[in-house]
Amino acid sequence: MSIGVFDSGVGGLTVLAALRQALPQADLLYLGDTARVPYGTRSAQTVAAYASDCARWLLARGCEQIVIACNTASAYGAEPVRQLAQGRPVHEVVGAGAAAAQRQGGQSGIAVLATRGTVGSGAYAVALAEALPQTPVREVACPLLVPMIEEGWYDHPAMDAAISTYLGTLSGFDYDRLILGCTHYPLIKARLQAVVGS
Ligand code: DGL
Repeated sequence: MSIGVFDSGVGGLTVLAALRQALPQADLLYLGDTARVPYGTRSAQTVAAYASDCARWLLARGCEQIVIACNTASAYGAEPVRQLAQGRPVHEVVGAGAAAAQRQGGQSGIAVLATRGTVGSGAYAVALAEALPQTPVREVACPLLVPMIEEGWYDHPAMDAAISTYLGTLSGFDYDRLILGCTHYPLIKARLQAVVGS
């Protein structure tokens, strides 16, 4: 089975690693569109066009399934990618994130950290309202995180300052689940946990 996986950059490697573990026999082809990263600050039309380009590239190389390993591209590009795939399975990550929060269960709200594009799309708001209609949701756009992650600034003081500022906007909101609504963010999970726990 040949599966094409794409993201704007290194973020989708977190999804690729999970796929490799779950499907050790699968033939995985990864495309990181590092020439055009970040997607999260671009218009809906641009992201949809970039996602279509990535899918075309993977389909032309014989991929039988596509994984959109990018929340922003999932929010804006899932439909055009499905059309291009012509019936081949297309998997996206926003629905998967909402389903994981539902499985986890909880007593209070859900906070979502994501790109400006993903937050602006309302994709998580819709998916979470469907999965967990009674649960309060607060989304935070974190536009500085992806560029710093692409630069490898995982342990840079600027990273901690940005994380503290973004998480600070959640003060007063009662939540017990935090969705990393961008596939780049698991790469700084330790830093996020340090700030959430402090
Ligand atoms: N990793 C991506 C996401 O999940 C894209 C981030 C970006 O390029 O801004 O949204």
